[in-house]
This record gives sequence, C-alpha cells and structure tokens, in this order.
Amino acid sequence: PFTLRLQRSGLSTEVASHETILAALRRLGLPVRTSCEQGICGTCEARVLSGTPEHRDSYLSEEESRSGRKICVCVSRSKGRELVLDL
Ligand code: FES
Repeated sequence: PFTLRLQRSGLSTEVASHETILAALRRLGLPVRTSCEQGICGTCEARVLSGTPEHRDSYLSEEESRSGRKICVCVSRSKGRELVLDL
C-alpha cells in the first residue's frame, strides 16, 4: 500500500495492494481517460511530480520509464510510500 497524492485536485488516498491507481482515482471521483487498461495504449498517462513509479506498463519508452516523470495509472504502482501526481 502507498499514499497517492493529487497535487492539482488537492486529494489524497491510500492505494491498497489489491487496488490500481486507476481504481483509486475513480473512487475519488476523478475522471480519467483510459482505453486498454492493460498498460499498452498510454491513454491514461499522468505526470509524476514526486515519488518513484513502479512501472508495469509496456507503453513508456525505456528512457521515459527511467526518468520516473510519467506513469500509466491503469497498471503501474509506487515503489515508495508516497506518489504525487499532476492530477
Ligand atoms: Fe492504456 Fe492505461 S489505459 S495504458
């Protein structure tokens, strides 16, 4: 589990181990555009402001993944205790 903070919305929540970031965003009532929901299309990409993403998608380039600045919220998670997104 980790804390998900949404900078622009001023919201935060705990994301349980069995929950996706996408599910947490929907639980908070945030509209998120998605398509594949399997980490393939990149539609759900969000900007990471702080924290370290644990990438589980196959969309971001190796360089984008390594930079830790973007995340596909439908499948990826957080390596650390807190992840802050530009949402
Ligand atoms: Fe396709 Fe997340 S919805 S990568």
